[in-house]
Amino acid sequence: MITSWIDGSRARTVPGESLRIASGGDADRGVRGIRVHDTDRGSPMTVTPEARTTSREQIALTEQHSAHNYHPLPVVVASAEGVTVTDVEGREYLDFLAGYSALNFGHRHPELIRAAQRQLGRVTLTSRAFHHDQLGPFCAELAELVGKDTVLPMNTGAEAVETGIKVARKWGYDVKGVPADQATIVVAHGNFHGRTTTIVGFSDDAEARDGFGPFGPGFRSAPYGDAAALAAAVDDTTVAVLIEPIQGEAGVVVPPPDYLPEVRRICTERGTLLILDEIQSGLGRTGRTFAAEHSGVVPDMYLLGKALGGGVVPVSAVVADHDVLGVIGPGQHGSTFGGNPLAAAVGRAVVALLASGRPQRKAAAMGEILHSELRGLIGQGVTAVRGAGLWAGIDIDPAIGTGREISEALLAEGILVKDTHGSTIRLAPPLVVTEAEIRRAVAALATVLKERR
Ligand SMILES: Cc1ncc(COP(=O)(O)O)c(C=O)c1O
Repeated sequence: MITSWIDGSRARTVPGESLRIASGGDADRGVRGIRVHDTDRGSPMTVTPEARTTSREQIALTEQHSAHNYHPLPVVVASAEGVTVTDVEGREYLDFLAGYSALNFGHRHPELIRAAQRQLGRVTLTSRAFHHDQLGPFCAELAELVGKDTVLPMNTGAEAVETGIKVARKWGYDVKGVPADQATIVVAHGNFHGRTTTIVGFSDDAEARDGFGPFGPGFRSAPYGDAAALAAAVDDTTVAVLIEPIQGEAGVVVPPPDYLPEVRRICTERGTLLILDEIQSGLGRTGRTFAAEHSGVVPDMYLLGKALGGGVVPVSAVVADHDVLGVIGPGQHGSTFGGNPLAAAVGRAVVALLASGRPQRKAAAMGEILHSELRGLIGQGVTAVRGAGLWAGIDIDPAIGTGREISEALLAEGILVKDTHGSTIRLAPPLVVTEAEIRRAVAALATVLKERR
């Protein structure tokens, strides 16, 4: 039977508690696929090996055989729909993280699943050695949504960032006339653009960076939100400024209102490209298609990812005009899976959703409610709330608990969130979230904070 975690009653047994009882030992028990009668659905179905195990067993198995490059909350998701995820014991939770914005349209949005299923029945991969009939339409439709004319599709966000760096350097040498191998790119303190060695090389987060050098040269970092400092870091070798319009991993940090327009002005004046990483902030999250729209800023290059694949497949892209992306020729960049038919078909369905404007309007309207509810917690265990649309960074009074502790307490209340940087938690529910779900999540946060004060 499904035990609802979102019906107002507070459950007493949580995966975290059972985890604390014991770990390991019997982790591999019960992992044989069997055919059973699913009484909830009234039809026979094949239960996967995973479905028979408990959260504890699943976590132990993962701990044993998966590299420990994450520290997940102790919940094991077995299925999901919209804003709700269900764990292997049948408990339901509201997903207020939404795959760090990869699930902007919710879990298994019917139009995205339909597009994927249609394409699964046709062709999934050709490599770019051949053309296929989804790539042209995907690029044309995405370019139109963005307001640029050219798309370079990749898979993950980090690949889009790497691609942007390569394109900017090539543009710098071919178009701007920077001497060979002298190109510099200005980035911001507190940035997060992914996990490749090049990218962590210009991060100032010791955890992300330390132990992975040596790093290549060519990056300068200026304080985020300080346009004068950024201007001082730009010189004749600077081919691009690469920033997030709102810094996600840093804790949903919103820069001063004049920052992005100033950065745009500096880039135009100094003849450098402005690259905006909208991988987490873009595609509806803040109430507009792009976060930079709130400041009226248009970059030379957009980096997109996460929600572009609708939470179904990894899809990322660099989107710019031909005078920028045209510097890349055959053999100079690519990816076996970049722009594959399945990704392109899902990407087209994502673009169609965004072209309707509905997700953006929903994020704007629900975002007002979210932020007004959260502001009510300031002084009640919350020291600051930042963000835009359905995206919020909430600083918890360190005397009350760490972000991790609050996230674990919220898990017990049936709300999934994730901490970032010590005492901050981040809320980013799917844009299909309802007002009632927002109120329920904020009420749960209020309860958790009250219990600790
Ligand atoms: C702003 C930003 N850029 C790039 C990335 C990297 O994306 P991916 O994890 O898909 O490589 C992230 C991931 O969180 C991000 O938030």
